[in-house]
Amino acid sequence: MKNIVVTGGAGFIGSHVVRLFVNNYPDYNIINLDLLTYAGNLENLKDIEGKPNYTFVKADICDYDTVACIFSKYKIDAVIHLAAESHVDRSIKDPFSFARTNVMGTLTLLQVAKNYWGDNFENKLFYHVSTDEVYGSLGDEGFFLETTAYDPHSPYSASKASSDHFVRAFYDTYGLPVVISNCSNNYGSYQFPEKLIPLFINNICNNKPLPVYGKGDNVRDWLFVNDHARAINVIFHEGKLGDTYNIGGFNEWKNIDLIRVLIKTVDKLLGREEGTSEKLITYVADRAGHDYRYAIDSSKLKNELGWEPSLQFEEGIEKTVKWYLENEDWVQHVTSGAYQKYYQQMYEE
Ligand code: NAD
Ligand code: TYD
Repeated sequence: MKNIVVTGGAGFIGSHVVRLFVNNYPDYNIINLDLLTYAGNLENLKDIEGKPNYTFVKADICDYDTVACIFSKYKIDAVIHLAAESHVDRSIKDPFSFARTNVMGTLTLLQVAKNYWGDNFENKLFYHVSTDEVYGSLGDEGFFLETTAYDPHSPYSASKASSDHFVRAFYDTYGLPVVISNCSNNYGSYQFPEKLIPLFINNICNNKPLPVYGKGDNVRDWLFVNDHARAINVIFHEGKLGDTYNIGGFNEWKNIDLIRVLIKTVDKLLGREEGTSEKLITYVADRAGHDYRYAIDSSKLKNELGWEPSLQFEEGIEKTVKWYLENEDWVQHVTSGAYQKYYQQMYEE
């Protein structure tokens, strides 16, 4: 496979996937298809934008004709589909945009791929990147397996579950060569500062309140984003068609304990006295429908394809905090809209 379209490549995880593929596979052409919503930022890819095997195209995955033109123009052999609306809190406020992008956008891409590839699916692949949130919420015990029944609760997870079902339906009905992975919460560089970890790092730095939903006792399983990109690379090349792979770090944290690690790390790196920022913790009303616990069992991926996380959490968090402290400009740009100007300068003038 040579010509690969990565959707959502200007977002948090997508930018790490694009970078990995562009750097590791000079023989592949990587086409980054992204609408550049508030969450997409070409500054995330400054280091590789001049590489000969990288092309950026601004487009909406819901726009069938434009996506079909991109498939023909670049002779697309494979799709790695990450484009999505991804923030649960936004989905509670505006569920329609989640149905549009995550459900209709995925269906549009599937239909374009099927029509463009015609009857010949040899050496073709549609890789759909999904989330563990489709499995719903766990109690104190147990893990999500690939066979766990879907039970989404938020409009975000409902839209991702629906997109997963469409991907499987295209495999079962038309034989489209697909593979799906469902990953736990990611953290690392270039994450938009609306999600817990970058938001709280930013607020601790700026002495702003840390809004902890409910009692802070919800549990998430955190994975370093570069390890997710490594897993996608392995599954893309070696995953079995029609299969699902769970990706996770066996790394569960109660929110409040994680927040204390963030406070400790930021205070230490800023040379503040230990515990200085504890006073910023502010308990606020819980998120509606807040899933209690997510925990992924990623043994299948380890046993069948040999993937394991490469980093211990403490090391990953320290790297991540350092990155946000050293890249204050990036945080300011993505939150101020200045990156839109960057895009115009780079691609429209
Ligand atoms: P993100 O919000 O940072 O990035 C999404 C990207 O998609 C942005 O670049 C945005 O511009 C683009 N996009 C949005 N709508 C589009 C459209 N209509 N057409 C083209 N591009 C569009 O998201 P992320 O956190 O990087 O997540 C990427 C994928 O991974 C999503 O599918 C998400 O469900 C999944 N996922 C995320 C996590 C996580 O912890 N962040 C965990 C598991 C799975
Ligand atoms: P988030 O990063 O939004 O990821 P997700 O909801 O997809 O797991 O949130 C992670 C956890 O942190 C989740 O339990 C909600 C909680 N949270 C807060 O307590 N306060 C906040 O301001 C945010 C954004 C999240």
